[in-house]
Amino acid sequence: MWGTEVSTPQIREAGEGLTQANASSETTIHRNPRDLTFRRCSSEDLETCYKLAQNAFPMVRPRENQLFVEACLLWSDWAELAYESQEAVGLLICKIVKKDWRTVSRLLAYFMLLVRFILGGPPQDLRFLWNFLLTDGKVAKNQPRADAEIQTVIVHSSHRGEGIGKALLDRFISAARQEAQIRTVRTYTTPALTNWRFYERYGFKRMGTFYDNFSSSYVASKDANAIFYLLTL
Ligand SMILES: CC(C)(COP(=O)(O)OP(=O)(O)OC[C@H]1O[C@@H](n2cnc3c(N)ncnc32)[C@H](O)[C@@H]1OP(=O)(O)O)[C@@H](O)C(=O)NCCC(=O)NCCS
Repeated sequence: MWGTEVSTPQIREAGEGLTQANASSETTIHRNPRDLTFRRCSSEDLETCYKLAQNAFPMVRPRENQLFVEACLLWSDWAELAYESQEAVGLLICKIVKKDWRTVSRLLAYFMLLVRFILGGPPQDLRFLWNFLLTDGKVAKNQPRADAEIQTVIVHSSHRGEGIGKALLDRFISAARQEAQIRTVRTYTTPALTNWRFYERYGFKRMGTFYDNFSSSYVASKDANAIFYLLTL
């Protein structure tokens, strides 16, 4: 399967560079009163992440969901899965925005990921890829300045409204607050495809909109404008 071909080094240790509450041990599982547990993602969790993405975005083709998840994880500094009993019910992928030597190696890995996607798929992938890169470019140029970024948050459809998304975000925000250089967190989302109200409920403020070429192919006639959000800690 395409998604399982990713080489382990491409997925960095989630939480690296951030003083995480559970940073002392990758395998430590923290239990909260409602039997929810959290575990940092590793490359072995790719399949689990794809499944959650496919459940959240069924209108997106599996290969494209895989590329999306893999690209998010590649840039991520913090990626956690939430479990209820043995079932993975939620995923949060975030990154700390800073320039360092890793950017070069990440760019290279990102490029390889795109090449692999083009070579391994049907011709319509080129249009998908064009929209994907166009949106990435617009985001890079217009997004608000921030110290950290939420790339995606997903809760399985059968477990929504139980506080899992908030619990995942709370953990990241609480770790981010302890880092002196992290004072703002940004994200963007396309209302036609996502539950954007979740961010507004959390306290994120709208900072602008742009036409999301990536999402436009999935929403057809619907509005494909995306919203930039900023949270000040
Ligand atoms: C967005 C998402 C992660 C929210 O997860 P969740 O576990 O259902 O959210 P929670 O139960 O933790 O809700 C937290 C708060 O947000 C509110 N909220 C969540 N979804 C909402 C919605 N669609 N409309 C209005 N409020 C919403 C809840 O009411 C709750 O408010 P409260 O604190 O006053 O009780 C989930 O709906 C999801 O996976 N959606 C598909 C993927 C997606 O859209 N991701 C976001 C953009 S990448």
